[in-house]
Amino acid sequence: MVDDFIAGLPKCELHVHLEGTLEQRHCGALAARHGLRPPADRPASYDGLADFLADYYAAVDCLRTEDDFRELTSAYLATARRQGVTHTEMFFDPQAHTSRGVALEAVVTGIHRAQEECTAGGGPSSSLILCFLRDAGAESARETLAASLPYRDWIAGVGLDSDERGHPPAEFAEVFSSARAAGYRLTMHCDPLQPDALLHLWQCLDLIGVERIDHGVDCLRDDRLVAELARRRLGLTVCPLSNLRLYGDLMGDAVAEMLERGLLVTVNSDDPAYFGGYVADNYEALADAGLSREQLARIARHGFEAAWLPPERRAAHLQAVDDYTAA
Ligand code: ADE
Ligand code: ZN
Repeated sequence: MVDDFIAGLPKCELHVHLEGTLEQRHCGALAARHGLRPPADRPASYDGLADFLADYYAAVDCLRTEDDFRELTSAYLATARRQGVTHTEMFFDPQAHTSRGVALEAVVTGIHRAQEECTAGGGPSSSLILCFLRDAGAESARETLAASLPYRDWIAGVGLDSDERGHPPAEFAEVFSSARAAGYRLTMHCDPLQPDALLHLWQCLDLIGVERIDHGVDCLRDDRLVAELARRRLGLTVCPLSNLRLYGDLMGDAVAEMLERGLLVTVNSDDPAYFGGYVADNYEALADAGLSREQLARIARHGFEAAWLPPERRAAHLQAVDDYTAA
């Protein structure tokens, strides 16, 4: 159950993988439609990122057509709306589909149609972020970037996700530089508790020039890094229920410390169909862990501050948070 204050608080989601919103039942229905074997049951928790990703990539096999991607996106946007999300910036993993023979056009067009329908139906507003799979390497990322350019107007930025071990940001410096030149905004995952976490975070700043970091909680171990992230007002998209289901720790204290130390920390759902909750449920989990309404409202503000929104729309969203908390 989500507390009324949290349900009504206008929220921005900046870290959600569309493929990670594929609910088990929806996956089963798609599998039946396409004559595939029903998906395996999902466990309540995972033994880290790689263990989770194996399930995640197996499940996406049921996404085959433009309509499948449209349905997936519509279902997420409807849930986000019910959870009080007023703006969302959604990741998708094109290589997880093109590698199976699904055309990029079907993926992007399906998602875009659902976004248009949602906007026409009262929102939330949304934008799309293309994530390269870091374990597919830089050459595949370059090819994917080139293939994305016909859809440039439908895609706000690029990110980097999947298995981080042995795939530092530096490996993708050139392709991110090309993406920036093409007009894309830049973000990258730095998942919790990964080997070389601090090196990866510094590379995001020094080599890539990212505009946000996805997760990034390990920064708290490096005072100089915290100071630099605070100085740049760089958004950090933390995902508490993801932390709980992958690492057995919500990391609520880390979120409170990030706030305390002046970081632009935001709260998000990551892969909600796997981790037991959408964005309001993540706020609720933090409230249960002891965060106050004032702290949660500050986090909601941070979401809109870190979003890739034009100034006037950002200001309207921030005003909505302020009006809500003043009421
Ligand atoms: N792909 C989907 N969810 C992810 C996560 N939490 N970290 C890295 N890659 C992902
Ligand atoms: Zn993620």
